[in-house]
Amino acid sequence: MRKKIIAGNWKMHLNAHQASVLVHRLQERIETHKDIEVVLSPSMLHLQPLSTQIDRRKFKLAAQNGHFVDEGAFTGEVSMSMLRDMVNYVIVGHSERRHIFSETDEVAAKKVAAAFRNGITPILCIGETSTDRSAQETDRVLHDQVTVGLKDITASEVSKLVVAYEPVWAIGTGKIAKPNQVRDAVVTIRHNIAELFGEKAASNVRVLYGGSVKADVASGYMNVEGIDGLLVGGASLNYAEFNGIVEQAHKRLVQG
Ligand code: PGA
Repeated sequence: MRKKIIAGNWKMHLNAHQASVLVHRLQERIETHKDIEVVLSPSMLHLQPLSTQIDRRKFKLAAQNGHFVDEGAFTGEVSMSMLRDMVNYVIVGHSERRHIFSETDEVAAKKVAAAFRNGITPILCIGETSTDRSAQETDRVLHDQVTVGLKDITASEVSKLVVAYEPVWAIGTGKIAKPNQVRDAVVTIRHNIAELFGEKAASNVRVLYGGSVKADVASGYMNVEGIDGLLVGGASLNYAEFNGIVEQAHKRLVQG
């Protein structure tokens, strides 16, 4: 069975003290469940101190970004080779990187490859905008993001991949994607991956949902067939809410 993931993307929030307090509270509150990986993604600056603070049995760390070249004259960048001993995961192609920092599918592809080269599991974020959806372009957008984003890796690497389906219109907006919209997207994503790398690799890929997830809707998304977890933004900054999401996911798994 694919192990579930509940990941919290803290984005550009919290100073060092606040980040440490949040980890402390999460550590007190969140229980370890063997069927769920809880992944925290603080800012780049806080990865190092938090990597020594976290209980590794409870939490894994993810970087929010990483450069695709391992070393060189790239002022302001942090490479995957610098991150490799600190994190298990790296978020690649988040819609904020795509839309605010103009990252393309080509860039995402290089980052996915760089992550695997350095032993880090990429969480490749894909999703359509509201304009794409109203133009009935969702399937085409997902197809392009998957096809280009995975073009530089092998089938055995794909088996370890995590994809986060995050409709852009649902991120940070409070707009809720309907479970049937999520189910359709997950089917499309796995189908696209199967076409490229075969059914077996596609069935190993873990697919998360992200976009305005809170504790009260978490189990609804976990119920969607093919969904293996959640990527949580805003609600991951609140320890009670994030713990609620982990508990809802666990309850859903126990119910089978
Ligand atoms: P949100 O963010 O939960 O605040 O909508 C999700 C994300 O950006 O991954």
